[in-house]
Amino acid sequence: MKFLFINGVNLNMTGKREKGVYGTQTLDEINAEIATHFSNDECVFFQSNIEGEICTAIQTADADAIILNAGAFTHYSYAIRDAIASVSIPVVEVHMSNVFAREEFRHKSVISEVCRGSVIGFGKNSYILAAESFRL
Ligand code: DQA
Repeated sequence: MKFLFINGVNLNMTGKREKGVYGTQTLDEINAEIATHFSNDECVFFQSNIEGEICTAIQTADADAIILNAGAFTHYSYAIRDAIASVSIPVVEVHMSNVFAREEFRHKSVISEVCRGSVIGFGKNSYILAAESFRL
């Protein structure tokens, strides 16, 4: 399968920010582990802090499935929600942390409704579990 892993705003700081929440590995290190796990599949990785670039990545995706950690955009980006709704490629929402065990503003996702499903709270393994769901 062709997987497109998209990470949104501040995920480039993974391994440097709030290590107790997001761990000590960098996004590149996590992506390398994902690529190893899915070595028989094609994995493409994209990260941006810019909302419109995430929309364009979704609109132009050449993939069987999109695994999306939109970061804080999750909680308020109707633009990303509409981009997901505009494509037929299934999108799985991912969060490394358990957003429901955190601040109230993180309990609301404006993208969940247009996603195939959500994987929340398993650290870097959230990405792997989300992609694995397409093999079931
Ligand atoms: C996050 C959770 C979001 O609330 C937060 O803004 C992030 C990361 C996660 O992976 O747990 O940047 O999406």
